[in-house]
Amino acid sequence: MIIKEPRSEAERQAFTEHLPRSLVPLMAPSDGGRIVLGAWGGEEVMGRLAAIASTNEPDAYMLLFLLGTRSPDAGPQPLEVEDALLAELESRVRLFGYRRLVMQPGFRMATDQAEPLLGAMHRQGWQEIRFVSTRFHIQGYRVSQERWFEMPLPDRYSFFFWRDLKPEDRKYLDSRMSEAGQLDPFGILDFEPETSLGLRDSTTGQVAGWFVNERAGPVTIRLSKLFLFPEARSHACFYPLIAQACRHAWPRFTRAVMAVNADNPRMRIVLNKVIGHLCFQIVDCYYCEKRLHPVGP
Ligand SMILES: CC(C)(COP(=O)(O)OP(=O)(O)OC[C@H]1O[C@@H](n2cnc3c(N)ncnc32)[C@H](O)[C@@H]1OP(=O)(O)O)[C@@H](O)C(=O)NCCC(=O)NCCS
Repeated sequence: MIIKEPRSEAERQAFTEHLPRSLVPLMAPSDGGRIVLGAWGGEEVMGRLAAIASTNEPDAYMLLFLLGTRSPDAGPQPLEVEDALLAELESRVRLFGYRRLVMQPGFRMATDQAEPLLGAMHRQGWQEIRFVSTRFHIQGYRVSQERWFEMPLPDRYSFFFWRDLKPEDRKYLDSRMSEAGQLDPFGILDFEPETSLGLRDSTTGQVAGWFVNERAGPVTIRLSKLFLFPEARSHACFYPLIAQACRHAWPRFTRAVMAVNADNPRMRIVLNKVIGHLCFQIVDCYYCEKRLHPVGP
């Protein structure tokens, strides 16, 4: 096995096509700091790695790590593939005097690839390896076939479009926003108005919760901020709220992604049970870093 850069631009593209769309421009040919490495066993690519080390920042970012798919007859992937790729990346990054090698949570890693990569990071002395969130990638049309999709919203509650939030609602929510923490529904970058819903409690007239979403791509919606105030929980609103947002979503969006943070294991279990089988991909996101010793002058 040897570690080397792809030989041609076509080969190089075979690496970057695995990147999330938003990261592709970072790997543009004009960018001198891109690092693209393959582990080659003869003609077979056994592993791919892409990183960017050309910004003015002190950190170099790993963007892609992908082990080659092996036929079942070929046996397990040799352990040294991931170690060799990481070691080569590190030695290149060190040469340029970078302070840290970082893998951010935006990094895409299918669950079956996480274990080999994280194992290699441990062996290679990465100091921080932190599980951040799980992303469920859902194929939309299948959701409507689920039994929970038809559950009715209890009479006490009603939906409204989040874009129709009244000024007095906003005042009320401002007074309680500390309860929502990261699930604050305001200031979303690419707010999606047709699928973002609020829930109103008719007995109090107040907003009881929300499911506020954002666009993630032309056909993909990010199911983003889902929150019920404690007094509205366990009132059978959870499934109807998700189903209603989906009803508005599917004509235009065929895919959805929903992330659950590592500090919410209960929700992860629930989503795994409810939509796990509808997902075409479930991705674990990690933050990992290796602090590098400064190289000499
Ligand atoms: C997540 C949230 C919207 C769910 O609404 P809810 O009214 O509490 O949910 P429900 O009571 O209808 O329960 C939904 C499911 O979770 C399960 N559940 C409830 N409490 C649970 C617990 N302590 N442990 C495991 N599962 C639990 C229920 O059994 C139900 O599954 P089932 O239909 O298979 O029985 C609400 O709890 C909330 O706002 N939590 C805080 C914010 C949050 O975690 N948001 C999600 C971010 S991804």
